[in-house]
Amino acid sequence: MAITVGSGGEHKRDGNSGVMYGFNGDTRTSANAFGIPDANGAEGWKIVLPKMVEVAEREHKQLRFSAAAFNGPHEYGRMAALAYECGVHRVVLNVGCPNIRAIGGKSIPSYNPGELDEILAIVGNYIGTNYIELKLSPVDNALIPPLAAVIRKHKIVRGIEAVNTIPNQRLQMPDGTSALNYTGEDGKKYDTGGLAGAPLKVHGLRVVRGFKKEFGDGFGIIGVGGIFTSDDVADYLADGADGIQVATAYLEYGPKIFGELLQGL
Ligand SMILES: Cc1cc2nc3c(=O)[nH]c(=O)nc-3n(C[C@H](O)[C@H](O)[C@H](O)COP(=O)(O)O)c2cc1C
Repeated sequence: MAITVGSGGEHKRDGNSGVMYGFNGDTRTSANAFGIPDANGAEGWKIVLPKMVEVAEREHKQLRFSAAAFNGPHEYGRMAALAYECGVHRVVLNVGCPNIRAIGGKSIPSYNPGELDEILAIVGNYIGTNYIELKLSPVDNALIPPLAAVIRKHKIVRGIEAVNTIPNQRLQMPDGTSALNYTGEDGKKYDTGGLAGAPLKVHGLRVVRGFKKEFGDGFGIIGVGGIFTSDDVADYLADGADGIQVATAYLEYGPKIFGELLQGL
């Protein structure tokens, strides 16, 4: 069992403001667009990560840190190095953000193998003998072989988490309103964000199968997207995942969800 914290970057960020998370219980779909707020950036992570490692280890769990980068690939490298210096067990590069491409104009590296290649070459220079994992977006099947080729080239990648949210989505609530309604860091109003929950499962399974086919055994694949029941977990394991991760169901139903998921297996 592991706890993932983050995503976090180097600099203090206010993030977005307004309604930044919504859940439609009829369709078990969530949308979010927090904009990765960060109270103190690297200086803050340096203080809290060693304490988080201590808490996780006391519970016999690993602590994973999800690194974000808003100012180029070197930020991924510096945050990964910082996390390992703090005793974190595994760093995951979040190459599946932001939820909204418009804000800041930043691209999502999961959709651009060339950009991922550049990031991994740079991160390799920061992490010594450590390894990393990648949190990927729900990319099209056509992108899986070129992404796998980049991953193969960089021996620092030990596994993937598949998948992050579908970016730029508008989630409708049962009363017809938009789940999200917020002001971005650019001062503009938005009602779109990253879609997750039940509709993501088909994509999570598809990407897990695609990477399993590319890498076979010995490469870690964590399945994530639309896991609410132990049947969902079983589907991910059957399609090649070595482990699973849960976001929306945890937010909606609290920590008891993990016991329920395991019990039903
Ligand atoms: C409110 C919320 C915040 C999230 N923040 C992050 C994040 O900071 N970094 C990240 O890699 N994924 C983030 N995610 C994506 C989840 O880790 C997960 O990939 C996605 O929600 C699909 O899983 P689910 O269907 O169980 O929610 C977030 C998801 C939600 C719902």
